[in-house]
Amino acid sequence: MPLLEMDRVTCVFGGLRAVSGVSLHLNQGELVGLIGPNGAGKTTIFNLLTGVYAPSEGRIQFDGESLVGRAPWRINKAGIARTFQNIRLFSDMTVLDNVKIAYHNHVRHGVFSSILRLPNHFRGEREIEDKAMAFLSIFHLEGKKDEMAKNLPYGEQRRLEIARALATQPRLLLLDEPAAGMNPQETRELMELIRFIRERFSLTILLIEHDMSLVMGICERIYVLDHGTVIAQGTPEEIRSNPKVIEAYLGEVTS
Ligand SMILES: Nc1ncnc2c1ncn2[C@@H]1O[C@H](COP(=O)(O)OP(=O)(O)O)[C@@H](O)[C@H]1O
Ligand SMILES: [Mg+2]
Repeated sequence: MPLLEMDRVTCVFGGLRAVSGVSLHLNQGELVGLIGPNGAGKTTIFNLLTGVYAPSEGRIQFDGESLVGRAPWRINKAGIARTFQNIRLFSDMTVLDNVKIAYHNHVRHGVFSSILRLPNHFRGEREIEDKAMAFLSIFHLEGKKDEMAKNLPYGEQRRLEIARALATQPRLLLLDEPAAGMNPQETRELMELIRFIRERFSLTILLIEHDMSLVMGICERIYVLDHGTVIAQGTPEEIRSNPKVIEAYLGEVTS
């Protein structure tokens, strides 16, 4: 059984079918790319998967259970975390606090020991801090822990956002153009990091990326979206030589 399955999902805004009859699946542990020209419906798929929008038609199953109609925070609790095309951080909080909050919301800790400040409470605090630091060090941000998130350079904000998503301990991670705005060197390092966290945390990852060559380098399978529909899927080699894909991208360059 796939970890995630979308079955003929449609999402309509007014008269626009932003996503139209999309079926896709992710097997446990896969790193899958979702590519397509601007406006193809990629981000809308993430919004459907995370409960921001409800599908007008179709089914979405995660780990055998329907996600349709569930609130975003419940979907996150169930094990799906995401990053945003436009970075979302607590910009006036420190780097460390950004990750602590994300982790904190997912730790079961006794309300009573917290209120009464029993030894348990302090142990809990220290554990949260240690864990948060461990996530920061994976993303080479431990030296920035006391800086305000808003003062980080762009590439580091992107990495912090992934650290935050990871701190919620997901099984499925959705990354929406995580390399947008990064230079080629930062981008290469980020792709290495994505590969690394997949192994380290046994994640399944769906990666939206505009740059085709980048996705081809790291994904095992790729879905290509155009005008809200899947026009191709397969291995990078299959996608590279697919005339429909070439046409969709050429159309974008010339229009
Ligand atoms: N909340 C919304 N209301 C109306 N139209 C939307 C909304 N969200 C997305 N769209 C439209 O749906 C289409 C797909 O958008 P999007 O999923 O953001 O594309 P992509 O991420 O592939 O660039 C676009 O035409 C966009 O304008
Ligand atoms: Mg988008």
